[in-house]
Amino acid sequence: MELQIETPLDLHLHLREGAMLQQVAPFSAAQFAAGVIMPNLVEPVDSLQRLRKYRQQVQDACGDVLFTPLMTLFFREYSREELVAAKDEIIGLKLYPAGITTQSEGGVRDFDRIGETVSLLEELDIPLLVHGESNGFVMDREQEFLPVYSWLAENFPRLRIVMEHITTAKSVELLNRYDNVAATVTLHHLLITLDDVAGGLLQPDLFCKPIAKRPEDREALCQAVFRGHPRLFFGSDSAPHPRHKKECCGCAAGVFSAPVALPMLAQLFEANNCLEKLAGFVSNHGRTFYRINPPSKSAFLERAPWQVPESHGSVTSFLSGQVLEWRMKNTEQTTSNH
Ligand code: DOR
Ligand code: ZN
Repeated sequence: MELQIETPLDLHLHLREGAMLQQVAPFSAAQFAAGVIMPNLVEPVDSLQRLRKYRQQVQDACGDVLFTPLMTLFFREYSREELVAAKDEIIGLKLYPAGITTQSEGGVRDFDRIGETVSLLEELDIPLLVHGESNGFVMDREQEFLPVYSWLAENFPRLRIVMEHITTAKSVELLNRYDNVAATVTLHHLLITLDDVAGGLLQPDLFCKPIAKRPEDREALCQAVFRGHPRLFFGSDSAPHPRHKKECCGCAAGVFSAPVALPMLAQLFEANNCLEKLAGFVSNHGRTFYRINPPSKSAFLERAPWQVPESHGSVTSFLSGQVLEWRMKNTEQTTSNH
């Protein structure tokens, strides 16, 4: 049995730089037509010059495989001139609260001061992508941030806002209140809860920000995704860290899910009798919200069990050692947009 997915998109992806970029980019390029590339490099991608250089590095790391990097700029105060110049080369600005996650120290410290730049984004029709967590108690961080989303959605009604990697039932509720708000959902947050991370022996490979939550939160995410909510779309948040940064005292946050993304999504949707909703989640919903039309590329999966390798060089993949039911067969790419 074969499954064909037309132009699948990973709308939240960390590819890093240097040797790590070379190591991980081929996994995404082998499955997806395009990806939203996160800007939280050691030196954040916060200028058009740096963005162009990084985009080239990503393209080089994908070699001959067609993969469109949809670039983001790290949120700071930008002038109108800077944003006008960048508009055609970016899919949006990514906002991090300062220090909330990996390499986000240069993020926003004072939300009272973001209005001017946000207003320019609204006027120029540039989406705002947000890592929505407060610096409160770890299980409450996403919920405590929700008033910021409401403020953004109400005060900038034409701004398109993406709540990145949502993990709670409350976030799904908020999404339903505002037409100008959409959200990405990761694979791992559809599969795991805090129990999987810390309920037994601590699992560094499942530790990420936002941390996986309660069973009822996971259930609410699954329900919304499996029913085909039109403003929920896939963003893996695949975030590789070398093993020595995961298996140590002070584990880095991030789940490296790129090698298993599409096969495991197919397995999950099939197990929940909603395989027909997969195309919406990984392709159409994101395209519609972002109004993008990346070069088409079909992904083919076949039902053939395979064991996820224990490691890929210095990185360990999500679900390593497990046997998955679907595997990537090949992709067919065309170079034209249509
Ligand atoms: O777990 C995470 N890892 N969450 C993020 O927001 C960033 C990411 C990373 O860059 O490692
Ligand atoms: Zn991320």
